[in-house]
Amino acid sequence: MKKYKIALLSGDGIGPEISSVSVNVLNKISKKYNFDIEINEHLFGGIAYEKYGAPAPEETLDKCKKSDAVLLACVGDMKYDSLPRELRPESGLLKLRSELNLFANIRPVKIRKSLIDSSSLKKEIVENVDLVVVRELISGIYFGKPRGYINNIEVPKAFNTMVYDYTEIKRITDIAIKIANQRNKKICSVDKSNVLEVSQLWRETVFNVTSKEKGLSLSNMYVDNAAMQLVKDPSQFDVILTSNLFGDILSDLAAMLTGSIGMLPSASLNNYGPGVFEPVHGSAPDIAGKNIANPIAMLLSASMMLKIGLNEKEAAENIERAIDNVLSKGFRTLDLDNGCCKVLSCSEIGEKIVEEI
Ligand code: IPM
Ligand code: MG
Repeated sequence: MKKYKIALLSGDGIGPEISSVSVNVLNKISKKYNFDIEINEHLFGGIAYEKYGAPAPEETLDKCKKSDAVLLACVGDMKYDSLPRELRPESGLLKLRSELNLFANIRPVKIRKSLIDSSSLKKEIVENVDLVVVRELISGIYFGKPRGYINNIEVPKAFNTMVYDYTEIKRITDIAIKIANQRNKKICSVDKSNVLEVSQLWRETVFNVTSKEKGLSLSNMYVDNAAMQLVKDPSQFDVILTSNLFGDILSDLAAMLTGSIGMLPSASLNNYGPGVFEPVHGSAPDIAGKNIANPIAMLLSASMMLKIGLNEKEAAENIERAIDNVLSKGFRTLDLDNGCCKVLSCSEIGEKIVEEI
């Protein structure tokens, strides 16, 4: 029997609630598809800071590196906002991404038929949405140096550096090409090359790397226009290739097309070693502990983990089908409620999904 070792990082806020649903779903699916899944939980985020004084303790990082895949819920809470930046939960997340060299962040945005009416946009605009945001994840302005915050001067100032080198742009473009070739062979590269040199290099590199690919169509868009086009006509997009900061912003925007950010999964990968699979949403401290969170983005992340990380394609598809069945029977979590359906708690919708497997 195949055996997989999963590092589970439940993190903060709603993390433990959506993680517990995910563990139930993974246990059921592994029995059905006859593989063994060993899930070990490790401290990460604010909770790790409380216990070890660091949001990404060495031991957790080490366990993640030695696992077959990492399933992460979410981190963060307002109460950590006043900590020095390197001790905040978000810095732990960036450290995990960087230590595991996860340069490619894949965020698929697909409208689920039964949720078309939950979108804040009109049905005609969102009904054919099926796109993937390919976001560079371990460089750009998130990691660029120099960076700093100087407040012991008369006029305080702060600065960050948006920097990419050719190799970093090439390797994420290669990933976008691979994904586009499995889809409609269409890449839209998003930058701000009318203003930024770093975007100029981005645009030239993407052009060079993709020009060797037969049958692939490349378009370029400035990020401000891309934001507008995502709201105006999102079905024009297939693969959106973009940098760390622009991808962060556009993926939240794209998530809302699907009705709720509680629906969007992501995979963070490199060309070897374990990937991290996590929902796009945050830790939602305002609803934590109330058992009302939507666990679906994390379940779809677990499904991506099975498909991409562990090569258990059928099991992955079964999770997606189970989610669709539960939604089409009219069950929803609060974030998806538009008055039409039966609202269930986080654990209840989890049980319904487990029943469908
Ligand atoms: C995301 C999140 C993170 C990011 C935060 C929590 C650091 O917004 O994964 O999109 O900005 O990358
Ligand atoms: Mg984000």
